[in-house]
Amino acid sequence: MTIPATRTNDVWLDKAEAYLALIHDADRDSHYLRAHGLKPSLLRMVGDCSCVRVLDTGCGDGWLLDALAPAEGYGGDIYRYNQFPARWHFSVEDVRKMSYADEFFDVTVASLLLMWFSELDAALAEIRRVTKSGGRVIIALMHPDFYRTGEVRADGDYVVTCNLGTSFVIEDHRIAGAVGPFQYHYRRLSEYVNACVRAGLRIEELADWFVNMDDFVATFGSDCPSGMRRTGKVPMYAFIRCTKV
Ligand SMILES: C[S@@+](CC[C@H](N)C(=O)[O-])C[C@H]1O[C@@H](n2cnc3c(N)ncnc32)[C@H](O)[C@@H]1O
Repeated sequence: MTIPATRTNDVWLDKAEAYLALIHDADRDSHYLRAHGLKPSLLRMVGDCSCVRVLDTGCGDGWLLDALAPAEGYGGDIYRYNQFPARWHFSVEDVRKMSYADEFFDVTVASLLLMWFSELDAALAEIRRVTKSGGRVIIALMHPDFYRTGEVRADGDYVVTCNLGTSFVIEDHRIAGAVGPFQYHYRRLSEYVNACVRAGLRIEELADWFVNMDDFVATFGSDCPSGMRRTGKVPMYAFIRCTKV
């Protein structure tokens, strides 16, 4: 299969260092959201890795492998982050066509990866191929209900202006309103679930994590860099845990 050189990939190669600086900045919300939501949720869903071989695809700087501490850890990403820990294996890999042997991993994780390109089925087919039969696949997504699918009106009201019943691409997506622009593929959760089923992955659990805006605002002093006011509990991450059948 030939993988198209998409603008999404070009942009990631160009923006990876800026993304890294953002998520390591304790004064910014990405750091808070990972520490409070993404990391504990993934640790719970992935489970014990102390005796198994784990792939983190779209691994970034390898923080998740450090947190999971598997017996053997592999990271693949289209960008080679210099900070990737030496104790894990790294190779430049596009999740849509990876170089690993079939059934090589006991556990495969794709955290905040599948929203950056249109070839969802190809990526899930590859994730399934490299995972052992009976192995675990864990997917983390930005929650489909989170994204800015509308606009803030002068009175502060947020009005949804997109049709959330269908897929679309946000062309000028910026992570935390700062790093980008990226192409972001909005999909309903059902599309991800059905794509997993099509790929031959048995869904074991769906989970989500909501950011508590009271705590968030207490930490940052304001609610959102865009000026958007959010209150209560806001959907932030969605997780799918599967078994390869
Ligand atoms: C939002 S970051 C997530 C990083 C890390 N998984 C985490 O949860 O913090 C997305 C990562 O996916 C990588 N990426 C984008 N497209 C990819 C592809 N087609 N194959 C593999 N990695 C890709 C980017 O380079 C970037 O490191």
